[in-house]
Amino acid sequence: QQALQIAIDGPAGAGKSTVAKLLAKQLNLFYVDTGAMYRAIAYKALMNKVPLEDEHSVTQIAKSAEVVLDHSAEGTVWCDGENVTQAIRNPEISRAVSTVAAYVGVRERLVELQRWEAKRGGVVMDGRDIGTHVLPDASLKIFLTATLQERANRRWVELEKAGKNVPYEEVAQDMQKRDRKDMEREVSPLEPAQDAVILDTTGLGVEEIVVKIVALTRRVD
Ligand code: C5P
Repeated sequence: QQALQIAIDGPAGAGKSTVAKLLAKQLNLFYVDTGAMYRAIAYKALMNKVPLEDEHSVTQIAKSAEVVLDHSAEGTVWCDGENVTQAIRNPEISRAVSTVAAYVGVRERLVELQRWEAKRGGVVMDGRDIGTHVLPDASLKIFLTATLQERANRRWVELEKAGKNVPYEEVAQDMQKRDRKDMEREVSPLEPAQDAVILDTTGLGVEEIVVKIVALTRRVD
């Protein structure tokens, strides 16, 4: 029997990573944060002063970078031996990441890593193209959404907690721009898989969402 694979996709700030982490813990599965991988490449490009429009150089970075997600310690992300867990959450990276993620060579490399991660055992994987492209045979596909206002507010609270004071309007605008780029790109755009369950999380707490998804996993053979 195939190990349980749960794909969670959706726009920025829909609660994917919080929900995915809790699910992984409850169901004893690996958690794979694919957004962190794209963020690590954007970080590396910015650090190396590579212009983001330079598709060839950015792709070279993706092909040579060693991106490692640490499953044991709480979601530590390594890029070429450097702990980038905090750095990749900066608004500067959030602004750069969709450009990098639109390049076919970057996606090919990271999708290969993601599929390899999924071979290790049951996984909860979150991203934009997990149900449509990375794990098309996933046991359960969830597409999480919420209003832009709620998503931007959640992200703003997260940033505040991390000591980063960014005006709410800026967070909302950046988020909208990023979602548009992710939905409009040619390669694996953000969209629900045909067999995805769409969950609108507006007004719902994390626990409620997790309970709903756990109930859905019971229907999966
Ligand atoms: O999930 P997170 O917001 O950290 O993702 C950052 C960005 O990485 C997304 O806005 C998108 O551009 C890209 N991404 C992607 N495909 C994925 C995961 C993330 O294109 N599977």
